[in-house]
Amino acid sequence: MPAVDLQSQVAIIGAGPAGMLLSHLLAANGVESILVEARSQDYVASRIRAGILEQSTVDLLRSCGLGERLQREGDRHRGIYLQWPSERHHIDFVDLTGRSVWVYGQTEVQKDLIDARTAAGQEVHYEVAATALHDLLTDCPSVSFTDAQGREHIIRAEVVVGCDGSFGPSREHVPLHVRRLWERIYPYSWFGILADVAPSTDELIYAWHGDGFALHSMRSSTVSRFYLQVPNNTKPEDWSDERIWEALATRLGHGQDGWELTTGVITDKSVLPMRSFVQTPMRYGRLFLAGDAAHIVPPTGAKGLNLAVADVALLAPALVDLIRNNDHRPADDYSDTALRRVWRCTHFSWWMTTMLHKGEDPFDEQLQLSQLHWITTSEAGAAGLAENYAGLPIGF
Ligand code: FAD
Ligand code: PHB
Repeated sequence: MPAVDLQSQVAIIGAGPAGMLLSHLLAANGVESILVEARSQDYVASRIRAGILEQSTVDLLRSCGLGERLQREGDRHRGIYLQWPSERHHIDFVDLTGRSVWVYGQTEVQKDLIDARTAAGQEVHYEVAATALHDLLTDCPSVSFTDAQGREHIIRAEVVVGCDGSFGPSREHVPLHVRRLWERIYPYSWFGILADVAPSTDELIYAWHGDGFALHSMRSSTVSRFYLQVPNNTKPEDWSDERIWEALATRLGHGQDGWELTTGVITDKSVLPMRSFVQTPMRYGRLFLAGDAAHIVPPTGAKGLNLAVADVALLAPALVDLIRNNDHRPADDYSDTALRRVWRCTHFSWWMTTMLHKGEDPFDEQLQLSQLHWITTSEAGAAGLAENYAGLPIGF
């Protein structure tokens, strides 16, 4: 059977937050797109991932009509707690930088995007297979795929955007002699736990501990999210609920200055490896890369989703200029401009990660404690963390 021909100005691969937000921003400026997504809509909407939105992300979502539920249900936080045994300190981002962060899960952002794009009649092909990119160095690139019923399609477009995460095919379509991969693999993983219990804290707690790092985050007034540093290749089955609560209580300082960790029913357990990569450049001919397709950071700085949003916020107007106004300069600048922020966030994520995770070397441990002491006692030290965590402006 011959392939079904589809036509659009932009073909977007991946309907995660980067792809969906890009289609939303393009449509607001009169540029049409078609999305293809390997997974089902339900799967994409229910993946438990990021929990923290930085100020620029919230500003952007509000400015493009996606802020209504976020305004109602999101929880604005002034800062975070940093702690180590017998010490807990609050870093107040608002006092230090005038900016704050919001607790609003990626699942919610994704649902808002799906609702908005569905209402607008956006064409999204879910559960596609065999996605392939063609003719990227010409003015008429295309994307071929097989739909959920096994029919072959080809989207002919003016631009292709790879928003297909770190395992998607787009980034490998940049030839080996053009692309460069910068990578760091960390020697530990995060064990993520979701529990039906009210948070035991008003703002996130990042805890250094001799047994390993722990993080107390949250999703709502009734759902808490926790992470424990664990060795690579840890299996969730090796951790009973009792062992999890014990480790969290120890590392988060249950009993310290009267603070108590409330336990509840654990509803999800998963292990995530910690790695970082940046693939440069983020453009090849008529292919542009955005979000996790071009870079991954370890989650300690809460940057991944925010970086994906920042890429797309830069890319959307550049594509509008290219397609509608025949002005290629912003598109030519996209990779360099986006990478400035990507490397800043890559550094910050590495810095937070190496400051808070237990390693093998006792010398490093003393350096970590010294750095934590400095950040929590010096305004200059705290301001650096606050500025990076609450997020730099999109065009930084
Ligand atoms: P993705 O969300 O990965 O979307 C890519 C999409 O492309 C996927 O839906 C995928 O199915 C699709 N795809 C792949 N291959 C194909 C193909 N061949 N054809 C078609 N479609 C394809 N970030 C933060 O900012 N703050 C946090 O607090 C935070 N915490 C995190 C906690 C966890 C546990 C994890 C795992 C991540 C966290 N992140 C966080 C990172 C954040 O979730 C990602 O950076 C974000 O999802 C990136 O969005 P994206 O759209 O670029 O990629
Ligand atoms: C989360 O709530 O999932 C979360 C919060 C902060 C991080 C990472 C993950 O740094």
